[in-house]
Amino acid sequence: MTSSATPTAAEVNRRLVEQYTEIARLSGALAHEIKNPLSTIRLNMELLAEDLGRADSPQVRRSMRKVEVVQRECQRLQNLLDDFLNFAKVRNLNRQPTDLNEHVKRMLEFFRPKADEAKIEVVDYLAGDLPTVLLDRESFRAAMLNLLLNAEQAMPDGGQLVVRTYVTADGVALDLIDTGCGMDEQSGTKVFDAFYSTKPGGSGLGLPTARKIVEAHGGSISLQSEPGRGTQFTVKLPVPARLST
Ligand SMILES: Nc1ncnc2c1ncn2[C@@H]1O[C@H](COP(=O)(O)OP(=O)(O)OP(=O)(O)O)[C@@H](O)[C@H]1O
Ligand SMILES: [Mg+2]
Repeated sequence: MTSSATPTAAEVNRRLVEQYTEIARLSGALAHEIKNPLSTIRLNMELLAEDLGRADSPQVRRSMRKVEVVQRECQRLQNLLDDFLNFAKVRNLNRQPTDLNEHVKRMLEFFRPKADEAKIEVVDYLAGDLPTVLLDRESFRAAMLNLLLNAEQAMPDGGQLVVRTYVTADGVALDLIDTGCGMDEQSGTKVFDAFYSTKPGGSGLGLPTARKIVEAHGGSISLQSEPGRGTQFTVKLPVPARLST
C-alpha cells in the first residue's frame, strides 16, 4: 500500500538538512581536489621562475613577469580555497563557560598593534555584570577577528573603533562600531552572502563564516550602517539558564 500522506514539516526539514550536508561535503571535497593540482602548478612555477632567474635578456624578463602573474593568481586561488574550506567546514563546537569580556580583551590586545599602525583608536566599554556564556573560544575568536579586520579595512585613513558588551533581555551582546566608509542599504543586505566582496582580492567569505559560527552558538549577528559615517555590527549570544545566575 502506498502512502499519499504529505511529509511533515519535520521530515521536510530533515531532508533539507541532509541535502545541505551532502552539498557541503561535495563542495568541500571539490575544493580539496582543486588544491592538489594547484600546488603542483605553484611548485612548477617556482621552478620555472628559478630557471628564468638564471638568464637575463628582455625576452626572459617578459617571461618572468608572466610567470609572476600566474604565481599571484595561484596564490589568490589558494587563499580562496582555504577560506572556502573554512566556511564549509562542519564544526563540532567545544563550548566552554567563558567570560566574554576577558575573551574580548585578549582579542583586542592582539588587534591593538595593527590598529595603532592603521591609526585606529580602539575604545572599549565592557559591562561589569556580564553573565557567563558558552563559547567555542577558537572559532568565536576567528569570527571576531573577521569583524575587526573588516573594521580596519573600512578605515584606511584611520578612525575609531568602539567595542562594547552589555546584557540584553535574553543574553549578552557585543557591538563593534567603526567610523569607516559604511555602506548603503543594498550592500548591507548582501554582506552575509557567500562571495560578496567589494575588495580587490577579498573572498567575501569573512562575514558568512562569522555568521555561521555565531549561529552555531545559538546567537545572531546584524548590522547597521550609514555610508560615509560608519558601521555597527552586533553579535548577540544566549545565556544558558543554568549559567545565568
Ligand atoms: N565594517 C565594515 N564597513 C564597511 N563595509 C564592510 C564592513 N564589513 C564588511 N563590509 C562589506 O562587506 C563585504 C563582505 O565582507 P566579508 O568580510 O564577508 O568579505 P571581505 O572582507 O570582502 O573579504 P575577506 O573577508 O574574505 O577578506 C566587504 O567586501 C565590504 O564591502
Ligand atoms: Mg572580511
